[in-house]
Amino acid sequence: MKKIQDFKLKTYQWLNDENYIFTLQSEEDIEAVEAGMFAEIEVPNASDVFLRRPISVLDVDYDNKSLSFYIKAIGKGTRKLGTLQEGDPISLIYPLGNTFTIGNIRSALIVGGGSGIAPFVMLGRELKEKGIKTTFLLGARSKEDIFLTDEFAKYGEVCVTTEDGSLGEKGLVTQHSLFSDGSQFDKIYTCGPDPMMKAVARIAKERSIACEASLENMMACGFGACLCCVTPTSDGRNLCVCTEGPVFNTQELAWSI
Ligand SMILES: Cc1cc2nc3c(=O)[nH]c(=O)nc-3n(C[C@H](O)[C@H](O)[C@H](O)COP(=O)(O)OP(=O)(O)OC[C@H]3O[C@@H](n4cnc5c(N)ncnc54)[C@H](O)[C@@H]3O)c2cc1C
Ligand code: FES
Repeated sequence: MKKIQDFKLKTYQWLNDENYIFTLQSEEDIEAVEAGMFAEIEVPNASDVFLRRPISVLDVDYDNKSLSFYIKAIGKGTRKLGTLQEGDPISLIYPLGNTFTIGNIRSALIVGGGSGIAPFVMLGRELKEKGIKTTFLLGARSKEDIFLTDEFAKYGEVCVTTEDGSLGEKGLVTQHSLFSDGSQFDKIYTCGPDPMMKAVARIAKERSIACEASLENMMACGFGACLCCVTPTSDGRNLCVCTEGPVFNTQELAWSI
């Protein structure tokens, strides 16, 4: 059930100077969280950051009453969240949003870029538990921007593209040989920059593969009141990403037209 809950900073794991994982611990039990859900995280001690920031749950540990998040520090809020001291209090509204759906599939391709890799640790684990063959395809500018490969490797094969060719195949994710070597997937899941997700959704549509995308639209309230997060649908409606998403069947979105 969605709630406001107090946590304390437990640990940081810095992946490089602008990407980190932080783990927050609570004295209360953790609400049930599923792959794709996110939290609205308060940015403490920041007089110039009023709004909470939406961040996907990277992982959950019910026994230790902790949640972890992977954060790419791109602005005031996400940089400030990287400056807390162990034990500092931090408030979360969670669990928010819907989840990825799995259904009756035998193979899945997960395509992630940037901070969009975060929801795929929990999804990868769930797919493995269900016996679904999973391939992860991660894309970035350079090898310094590729993270969590060891974690994803626990749940499936990991493929990489970098624009400068410093790791994996050179080019964009949609140019990876997985899309031309006859590999078959029953479903594609994607999260990352909009142009990447749109290109992935286009390939899925051309090949009649079911595709779900988790949108990272900018948000303010996080509960359906301000309408700043809306995304248009293929049939002319507008959906709130915070309450009706963030995960959508890409056929439903206007960008699939
Ligand atoms: C459902 C959801 C899940 C998310 N999960 C993660 C996650 O797991 N890890 C993570 O690092 N980030 C995630 N994000 C993105 C994250 O919320 C933004 O990066 C963050 O709010 C930026 O806040 P800031 O104060 O650091 O940047 P600001 O100072 O507010 O902005 C800095 C710059 O980034 C741009 N910007 C701000 N927010 C976004 C956005 N959502 N998309 C594109 N550009 C933006 C601004 O226009 C500005 O140019 C998620 C977003 C959503 C909606
Ligand atoms: S963020 Fe306010 S309606 Fe979605």
